[in-house]
Amino acid sequence: MESLNTIIDICMQKRLDRKSTLFALGGGVIGDLTGFAASIFARGVPYVQVPTTLLAVVDSAVGGKTGINHPLGKNMVGSFYQPHAVIVDASTLKTLDTRQIAAGIAEIIKYGLICDEEFFAWCEANIAGLVARDPTTLQYAMERSCQCKATVVAMDERESSGVRAILNLGHTFGHAIEAAMGYGTWLHGEAVAAGMVMAAEMSRRLGYIDDTTVRRIEAVLCAAALPVRPPPSMQVETFLTYMATDKKVERGVLRLVLLERIGKAIVTANYDRQTLLDTIQYFRQALPRTAGKLREASCALTPERFRKGWFIKVMLIGAILDKENRERGARMLTYQSSGHPSRFQPTNARQQPCA
Ligand SMILES: NC(=O)c1ccc[n+]([C@@H]2O[C@H](COP(=O)([O-])OP(=O)(O)OC[C@H]3O[C@@H](n4cnc5c(N)ncnc54)[C@H](O)[C@@H]3O)[C@@H](O)[C@H]2O)c1
Ligand SMILES: [Zn+2]
Repeated sequence: MESLNTIIDICMQKRLDRKSTLFALGGGVIGDLTGFAASIFARGVPYVQVPTTLLAVVDSAVGGKTGINHPLGKNMVGSFYQPHAVIVDASTLKTLDTRQIAAGIAEIIKYGLICDEEFFAWCEANIAGLVARDPTTLQYAMERSCQCKATVVAMDERESSGVRAILNLGHTFGHAIEAAMGYGTWLHGEAVAAGMVMAAEMSRRLGYIDDTTVRRIEAVLCAAALPVRPPPSMQVETFLTYMATDKKVERGVLRLVLLERIGKAIVTANYDRQTLLDTIQYFRQALPRTAGKLREASCALTPERFRKGWFIKVMLIGAILDKENRERGARMLTYQSSGHPSRFQPTNARQQPCA
């Protein structure tokens, strides 16, 4: 709220008017805040998203949701307000730390899972390149993710028909983890990664997908050094308490985003409570299924262990080897919109429709 006031104060002091344009240069927090300020200043001025985190590029900068947190709830003050354009300069991602890159990769993998089986297979095949920030690989993933998000948003811009909710795969479990651990302890993308595995396991228990599919999902997340288990300290009751406040609760019934198959997510309340309880309970005991010692080490990675630094050494070597590659730089991607997400078109990127 204080940051919002600061932006509005500056707009007033600089005598900006309705023809002025605000630029959101930063991660998702800056993008959401600037977008909201633009939506209310002078009853709405244009704004341009210039995302500088991978998560913001592939997620928050596209779709037109803006907002700020209220002490009583995350994102509870906001608006739907489309940016005039989204400008992506992949070279800004060079300075992001490893955890932030991995958090963005979680959302990239999500797009494959919810709406594009071919893209998921591409992520599996190219996960090493993504982690190493290979410019060509990252650029392709960013383009395809933005197109997937724009396609879904165009079908349900204001979250009225329910289609947009598929973007929330892993988020109901993930938000519970983020909130229970204290915001910032687990990054959003890390919590979503563990949440997607929980949603996949629940989908398996309900007979939608098989065990092999759950293993594939775990394996690709593990390869990006993302957590695939919730924090061991989190009790079933804690999950249920936080999940009850999810925005997909309708008349007291929680709708979950589950997987019918890779490439197709569904939003459903058609599950029995016992399956939900069993799923959460299972994750309080189970080790990752993905085979292999190294894999298990990565899978067991938690944000807490990240801080201890044993993993960072491995990633640093990877980063040094890749430095030259990265310094070749990636060209700029520009997405322009004339007010509606369906009109989002890359102005200088390959055209690749969302499956
Ligand atoms: N509007 C939406 O549809 C939507 C979707 C997803 C997430 N979000 C919101 O986005 C936020 C998360 O976004 P985020 O992950 O970008 O977090 P963030 O904005 O907090 O950025 C993460 C950190 O990276 C730093 N940073 C930004 N760019 C950098 C760069 N190029 N190099 C080095 N450091 C850099 C930031 O200062 C910050 O410390 C959450 O508040 C979430 O609610 C919104
Ligand atoms: Zn998300």
